[in-house]
Amino acid sequence: MARLKLGVLISGRGSNLRSLIKACARPDYPAEIALVISNVPTAAGLAFAQEAGIPTAVVKHKDFPDRASFDAAIEVELKKAGVELICLAGFMRILGVEILTRWTDKVINIHPSLLPAFRGLHVHEQALAAGVRISGCTVHIVRPAVDDGPILVQGAVPVTSDDTPETLAARVLEAEHRIYPLAVKLIAEKRVSIEGDRAFIDEAPAPRAPLLSPAD
Ligand code: GRF
Repeated sequence: MARLKLGVLISGRGSNLRSLIKACARPDYPAEIALVISNVPTAAGLAFAQEAGIPTAVVKHKDFPDRASFDAAIEVELKKAGVELICLAGFMRILGVEILTRWTDKVINIHPSLLPAFRGLHVHEQALAAGVRISGCTVHIVRPAVDDGPILVQGAVPVTSDDTPETLAARVLEAEHRIYPLAVKLIAEKRVSIEGDRAFIDEAPAPRAPLLSPAD
């Protein structure tokens, strides 16, 4: 079966990119990374991609007069690589409404909170300030409003009374690395449908063989 072609957009560390690279290395994983784009030439994640033999491109936002022309330059690279699903992974730019409309339901993002709680930046500080007992991360379809859109998969982690933003971030990040590959897998297996503001996941097909044989 043809594997879903991903374009991963990053700006920095690239640990979520690395979790996707690892998942895509499994022979039974239904997606592959066709291209990694960074708007920051020094992004550490670019090196992971290159080590894995994945094509990379740098598209610097500072080289463009406005958001629409930056987005269009990214789109040219994505199309050249045959990308079918755009995965934002620590990409620190906002994509404009035009590109998101052209790629409706084909752009996903990972955010380090249980959306719709704690959008934007300094998410772990927000969670600690609110005193929540549970935090986590969300993979969602990207809509024009920041950190908004149908929720695909969430991962929850406990918040402890001695947590700092750093310790909480590290715990959430482990969950991120589990749920991003899962969300991509569900999409690649065509098990996701979107209705309005909600995403629905089809159950996995029931196993063909009965658990107990008739003789039992
Ligand atoms: C992650 O916490 C992700 O949820 C957020 O940006 C961070 C990126 O980390 N959107 P990395 O570059 O994937 O390590």
